[in-house]
Amino acid sequence: MFTLYSWNILWYDRYKCSKDEVVWMKLCVLMGSPRREGNTAALLRPFLEECKTMGVDAETVWLCDRRISPCQGCKTCQDLLDGLGCIQEDDLQAVFQAMLDCDVIILATPIYAFFCTTPMKALLDRVIYAGVKNYGREKGPRLLEGKRLASIVTCGYPPEEGAGLWEEGLKRFCRHGGLEYMGLFCRRDWGGREPFMNGEREQAVRDFAQAIRLSIREAEL
Ligand SMILES: Cc1cc2nc3c(=O)[nH]c(=O)nc-3n(C[C@H](O)[C@H](O)[C@H](O)COP(=O)(O)O)c2cc1C
Repeated sequence: MFTLYSWNILWYDRYKCSKDEVVWMKLCVLMGSPRREGNTAALLRPFLEECKTMGVDAETVWLCDRRISPCQGCKTCQDLLDGLGCIQEDDLQAVFQAMLDCDVIILATPIYAFFCTTPMKALLDRVIYAGVKNYGREKGPRLLEGKRLASIVTCGYPPEEGAGLWEEGLKRFCRHGGLEYMGLFCRRDWGGREPFMNGEREQAVRDFAQAIRLSIREAEL
């Protein structure tokens, strides 16, 4: 797992020699910010550029553009074992398919009320329930088992305080769903007192992209 709030450059240096190797992987970036030109988007831009440089395929889904309604708690999804089985007809299935089709899921979100934004919470609620067939007459699979997950976050409080609950939630989400939690990258919004982006942040989020790639490479050796 990666260092919590600032990527540990020393660890990265140990593997730097293999930077040019091609590692095949596909990322699904789920973006929870409503702000196209916001802080989270500003971090995501160099992250995606770095992915492109590495030849990593990354699909970005802006959750605000999708219609994902809140879970109704009807539990109908537990009657279908090999698919989501949700009775709501909205964009969940398409977004879930993108999650199934990738190797690493990246949850990018500003912290709202100490957790993720509402569209992302609606997605997670429905995926953790319909995607884990534990609660019906017959027990079934965990549909995202084996996927890897990492997060890119911005918040107003110091990261430990602002993003700590979100990270704990992610760890439990992964444990429950059988995913591998890879780590979290977080930077603070100083509320206009200084520009959100700077050289350190840009480099650090690029390193985070490299770290994800290298971690997968190490796992495959
Ligand atoms: C509605 C709202 C709720 C927020 N709640 C929190 C919070 O609970 N903790 C925190 O650290 N920051 C909080 N923030 C600050 C944002 O996380 C921060 O400004 C973030 O960088 C905004 O990202 P964006 O530009 O991508 O929207 C909140 C901001 C808004 C607008």
